[in-house]
Amino acid sequence: MLNFEFCSPTKFVFGKGMQSRVGELVKEFGGTRALIVYGGGSVVRSGLLAQVKDALDAAGVPYEELGGVKPNPRSDLVYEGIRICREKGLDFVLPVGGGSAIDTAKAIADGVPYDGDFWDFYCGKAKVTKALPHGCVLTIPAAGSEGSNSSVITKIEGNLKRGLSTEFHRPRFAVMNPELTFTLPRYQLACGVTDMMAHIMERYFTNTKDVDLTDRLAEALLVSIREAAAKAMADDHDYEAHATLMWAGMLAHNNSVGVGREQDWASHQIGHEISAKYDTAHGASLAVMFPAWMKYVYQHDVARFVQFATRVWAVDPAGKSDEEIALAGIEAMQAFFVSMGMPATLEQAGGCKEDIPALAAKVVNGKTGHFVELLPAQIEEILHIAAEK
Ligand code: NZQ
Ligand code: ZN
Repeated sequence: MLNFEFCSPTKFVFGKGMQSRVGELVKEFGGTRALIVYGGGSVVRSGLLAQVKDALDAAGVPYEELGGVKPNPRSDLVYEGIRICREKGLDFVLPVGGGSAIDTAKAIADGVPYDGDFWDFYCGKAKVTKALPHGCVLTIPAAGSEGSNSSVITKIEGNLKRGLSTEFHRPRFAVMNPELTFTLPRYQLACGVTDMMAHIMERYFTNTKDVDLTDRLAEALLVSIREAAAKAMADDHDYEAHATLMWAGMLAHNNSVGVGREQDWASHQIGHEISAKYDTAHGASLAVMFPAWMKYVYQHDVARFVQFATRVWAVDPAGKSDEEIALAGIEAMQAFFVSMGMPATLEQAGGCKEDIPALAAKVVNGKTGHFVELLPAQIEEILHIAAEK
């Protein structure tokens, strides 16, 4: 196990009806005037936004609103949020929604006290040294932004989708009521399940030795997610299944299973280029990239892929070579994604083969990955695998 520091300071308030606590939580963490940030309208239609406003009113916390955040959130609303906070003297950012609303809120929180362009942080030109506090109400188990130190924003100029990790990005609190996810379209639920599994697998495929504890934690999470996803897809009011997914999505990405081990993240970085170019849902980009990446790299450590296949996907090793077991695990994982309605190929994810060189060339810094380090030519090969059935 490698040396590490781990601080996950978020207060998680989990369960039925917990959105009524949001006003007192904002006050608990020092907020006196809040900016509510939300997406394209699901929280309006479900009545959640009205409930959040009622809770803020009851706690005596005035607020402003910023709606319209799109999936793969863009920089324009970040600038708008920074402007509103400054003009109105707001001191707390309150996203109500999924990763896109939360990530927008994190970027706004960074930008308000900064005397410059918030994008400086996302392109590595400056480091966040102070930020407004933020806390969230989560409506989709997926990105894990409710417990992570990350935020991912697309800069409209240049169409650059970039992530930023800083401890300022850990929310002060996260309200997590699984009932709020009952209204999710199946496709969004499937995207979320794929994304949380991907967060675990980015950490699982490592060159670090003697990490059996985090291996086992990761495998337990993956199996629980697989089983709960099948139930949640079959019954959109199955509370226990949705509760399992909601908590698993947080655990998948607050780094509980990633500490002390080198992590990969190539599939995410290549997936971000697909989302930036075609506006593909994040989970859908991963459903295509992860199997392709695995098929390309499994020979680097077949034993690890055999462990993954047998422990997570219950592949029967009898009569199979290690290579066959490894490949059967990858096939089982991809079949599971497809069974939920996820795309199997680059084309199904909205992409086209002709763009592969440009996509590969754009991956951050021209190389990616740690399990196997990938240069643009290798990224192109992986994208070609993703383009095949
Ligand atoms: O916009 P609204 O109308 O709210 O609809 C959303 C959106 O269309 C809908 N939705 C969410 N909750 C719902 C609901 N519809 C009905 N009922 C509900 N309860 O779902 C759609 C997707 O929402 P979004 O917030 O985009 O989903 P997600 O949580 O998957 O976030 C994706 C973004 O997070 C980034 C991704 O790259 C992507 O931009 N990520 C953020 C990470 C982080 N901050 O740690 C890590 C991830 O790897 C990821 O990169
Ligand atoms: Zn992700």
